[in-house]
Amino acid sequence: MVFTELLDMIEETYSLEVVDAVISASDLPSGGSYTRVGTYPSEEMSMLVATLSREVGAPPEDLLRAFGDRLFGRFVEMYPAFFPADQGIGDFLSGLESYIHSEVRKLYPDAETPTIDVLVDGDDSIELTYQSPRDMPDLAEGLLIGAIGHFGAVLEIQRSDLGGQPPTTRFTLTRPADS
Ligand code: HEM
Repeated sequence: MVFTELLDMIEETYSLEVVDAVISASDLPSGGSYTRVGTYPSEEMSMLVATLSREVGAPPEDLLRAFGDRLFGRFVEMYPAFFPADQGIGDFLSGLESYIHSEVRKLYPDAETPTIDVLVDGDDSIELTYQSPRDMPDLAEGLLIGAIGHFGAVLEIQRSDLGGQPPTTRFTLTRPADS
């Protein structure tokens, strides 16, 4: 589903011609005929984004962030039960691992979800570490941007890529001083 969403985003933002050009220039092991329920190697995501970056002249980090932001909105549309109206962003992020990603792993045993540890101090200050062998912190940042927008929170994101094995990124979400 993440792959079909990426191609949908490319089509809507650019065109179907760009989708075709990106798929044919990426030399994908799967050939690029994705289905919503299929499972594909995460490297193909990086290959697609690298080719798109060359095609449209935008940095891959920006493309992945924009994709994550949009993907969060699609999750909300597709799985509304995961987003109770009375929940704040702090509670949502605290429950992400145990409630959402673990359900994803039960439903799709092949799914590869990251480890996300959350330290919350209310809805105004949240520290989160993202760890994954896939090392996709730009996608994680985009999803966080989408979450902040969805909850109508006023939070700035600071990010430090800490390296390590599996690679770890720390995100600190805080209310800007002037708000
Ligand atoms: C701010 C919130 C979220 C963050 C930061 C986050 C982070 C990520 C990242 C970075 C990945 C890529 C794989 C990896 O890095 O190992 C991922 C995978 C995934 N996440 Fe999340 N996620 C969030 C919310 C959600 C929500 C709301 C859903 C569904 C309702 C969801 C479902 C999934 C699914 C289905 C995958 C793909 C698994 C696969 O295809 O192998 N995530 N998540």
